[in-house]
Amino acid sequence: MSNDHERYARFELDASRAAAAIKDADDVLIVAHIDADGISAAAIASRTLDRLGKPHDVTFLKKMDEASADYVNKSSASLVWMVDLGSGYLSYLTRQGVVVADHHVPDPKWMAGQTSLFDFSGLVHVNPHCCGMDGSGEISGAGVTYVISKQIDPNNKDLAYLAIIGATGDVQDHAHLRFTGYNRRILSDAADNGDITVDNDLRLFGRETRPLTQFIQYCNDPVIPGLTSDGTGCSKFFTDLNIDLKDNGTWRAWNDLDDNEKDAVKISLIEILERSGSSAERLMGEVCTLTGSKKRSELRDAKEFATLLNSCGRYDDAPVGMRICLGDKNALSDAAKNRSEHKKQLSIAMNLIRQKNLVREREWVQYFHAHGEIRDTVVGIAAGMILGLDGVRNDKPMIAFANADDGVKVSARADKSLVIKGLDLSFAVKTAAEHVGGFGGGHNVAAGATIPAGREYDFLHMIERIIASQIT
Ligand code: C5P
Ligand code: ZN
Repeated sequence: MSNDHERYARFELDASRAAAAIKDADDVLIVAHIDADGISAAAIASRTLDRLGKPHDVTFLKKMDEASADYVNKSSASLVWMVDLGSGYLSYLTRQGVVVADHHVPDPKWMAGQTSLFDFSGLVHVNPHCCGMDGSGEISGAGVTYVISKQIDPNNKDLAYLAIIGATGDVQDHAHLRFTGYNRRILSDAADNGDITVDNDLRLFGRETRPLTQFIQYCNDPVIPGLTSDGTGCSKFFTDLNIDLKDNGTWRAWNDLDDNEKDAVKISLIEILERSGSSAERLMGEVCTLTGSKKRSELRDAKEFATLLNSCGRYDDAPVGMRICLGDKNALSDAAKNRSEHKKQLSIAMNLIRQKNLVREREWVQYFHAHGEIRDTVVGIAAGMILGLDGVRNDKPMIAFANADDGVKVSARADKSLVIKGLDLSFAVKTAAEHVGGFGGGHNVAAGATIPAGREYDFLHMIERIIASQIT
């Protein structure tokens, strides 16, 4: 078992191979995933190429499949630089001149075929999984792209904060309540640059922009008795603590509170949790503030920034997200409509799941089918959010289905505690999807697939067998 130092050195060696291929290229096509991690990765890649003076285009893809591989293979660019996607489809990438900077579980078929010919193939694959690192927690797609960028020019260290936004989008700080592994190196680069400050604070969403009551009301990790999902309970909570909800008619957000007010809230929340016998452990953790963004702006808190990027990606507007990453001030207003649409769609989705009691339980998994009522790009977030809420258990993975234009979209989410027991959703979803004629992949706690319509029950049957064998 090699130590971190050796693993990181191997990884950086792979990144330096990619850097050499990129510096050699005449022109580049960046192909990126549409989520916050992919968008941040695309921004890092694009800025890196701008600085090299290399002509390039950027294409965002919702997912990798055979058609996407075909698109990459047929590109006329001298090099295609894939970011935050590609690893699951390596054996389909047949063209010369591809760099894959990804952290998803690599295609086992391709891995099995790897020999010492590595250096002579037209593909440079940079992925933490290939260096004994954990791709779901230790580094994101934007992180991998950043490491390559820094190999191209150490001055690209100023892009580290974008890699942290990507890692935040992929909730890589979730398991340990802080960034771990290679992400710590990236975080320390960003802190050295003065772009990010790190604090220990409430881990709830919306520190800069959410009104206080909603800030507490939407907390589901942990669920706070009397406050989670209870707006009235939340406003009474603040009134009892003599904390004003408004300042001159404007709703106050968490970061508008002074230190005494914040301490009073934290102490009180911990008391409520302990009194009810729940653990307060997950309430607090590492939070990242982007010092270059204005106070009360969603670009100041890393979680809010990442959510804004996700909302662009999910409404076919990833390029606007990339413009935001690159500091284009006008892009923010363009994104506002995506953000409000995203909020609306999520709240519709959550209400639908609860009011129609869509969640069904099986022995090893629970699931719901949203048919055409939840967008395929939103169903995964809804599946993650419903875990542990309102009587929905979080000790079984949630499998969500929604109609998509090319079949049925599957999104699977699970609580990290199941991974310790052996759960690997990436393998389970990929295998079950392929069994019914679909395809998929992802990470141990979050994976997705597309399967042919009508095969949902066969998929459930298969994935249940796999999960049972993983957990027992
Ligand atoms: O689409 P969803 O949000 O459910 O995806 C969860 C994870 O699984 C993401 O990291 C995504 O990139 C991955 N995924 C995949 N192949 C698919 C669908 C999703 O690798 N066909
Ligand atoms: Zn990612």
